[in-house]
Amino acid sequence: MEPASTTSTRAPVIEPLTGVETAAERARHRGLPDPADVVMECLGLNVFYGSFHAVHDVNLSFGRNEITALIGPSGCGKSTVLRCLNRMNDLIPSARVEGEVTYDGIDIYGRAVDPIEVRRRIGMVFQKPNPFPKSIYDNIAYGPKIIGMDGDMDHIVERALRVTALWDEVKDRLDDNAYGLSGGQQQRLCIARCIAVSPDVILMDEPCSALDPVSTSRIEDLMVELKERYSIVIVTHNMQQAARVSDRTAFFTASPDETTGNRTGMLVEYDKTARIFTNPVDKRTEDYISGRFG
Ligand SMILES: Nc1ncnc2c1ncn2[C@@H]1O[C@H](COP(=O)(O)OP(=O)(O)OP(=O)(O)O)[C@@H](O)[C@H]1O
Ligand SMILES: [Mg+2]
Repeated sequence: MEPASTTSTRAPVIEPLTGVETAAERARHRGLPDPADVVMECLGLNVFYGSFHAVHDVNLSFGRNEITALIGPSGCGKSTVLRCLNRMNDLIPSARVEGEVTYDGIDIYGRAVDPIEVRRRIGMVFQKPNPFPKSIYDNIAYGPKIIGMDGDMDHIVERALRVTALWDEVKDRLDDNAYGLSGGQQQRLCIARCIAVSPDVILMDEPCSALDPVSTSRIEDLMVELKERYSIVIVTHNMQQAARVSDRTAFFTASPDETTGNRTGMLVEYDKTARIFTNPVDKRTEDYISGRFG
């Protein structure tokens, strides 16, 4: 998909609502997932690191079995928002999260919610492949063992490796250290490790930025296959990647506060990916995707 024209000033074409639409119709009109298909949602999400206001008032819903891309210039809070989705920010002492993040309608920051269970259901894959210094087999088996998953472990390991198209490449060397795999294979192993504990949502923070184009393409193909079973949220700096794989795209930016100079991140625009990349509503989105900013 081509980025929007750098000279375009056309107004977006949106048919006005009549006021009698259903919630689903209103969501579709605004390019949002149907409320019945929302797997996760941020409601009035604000994030602080100490006194620094990193993310301001984000409202964003994620569609089930969709790939949602978070894009925007460095420092606009993409990783911060992503980490809120499975409470990884809990592990950063200075981080404070306000607002709600719901999963299947339940606030994952609620008092009765176990963050470990949150992270099992909402797994994460990081920018740099980070296998454990263990065998390929033990990398996959580790999570299922810890949570006492039922079933034959060999079968669980094989299934996860097949899903990530790694099985044929590693089936004869399952006892070898995972560090011996290539970068692309290590990243697919990390995705397999994430899948092994049967998550529902997979969060990926620039999963291909350390990989060559061939490995990147394999991970992109994998993501598209995985969305049949999982809901995926991906942070990427690669706009072609967002355009290729995602169903919806959220564009964030960070504007400096006039008095403090602090750059607080905010959501500018969220819509179907095709629309964000061809006919964005906000000029800041258009400037970014056409390469004039960021
Ligand atoms: N652990 C932390 N402690 C303090 N400030 C942080 C911390 N993590 C992030 N920040 C700040 O919060 C803001 C948002 O950071 P974040 O990493 O979420 O941005 P990003 O959009 O993912 O950027 P990039 O594209 O460079 O990865 C930045 O100003 C950053 O410096
Ligand atoms: Mg980041």
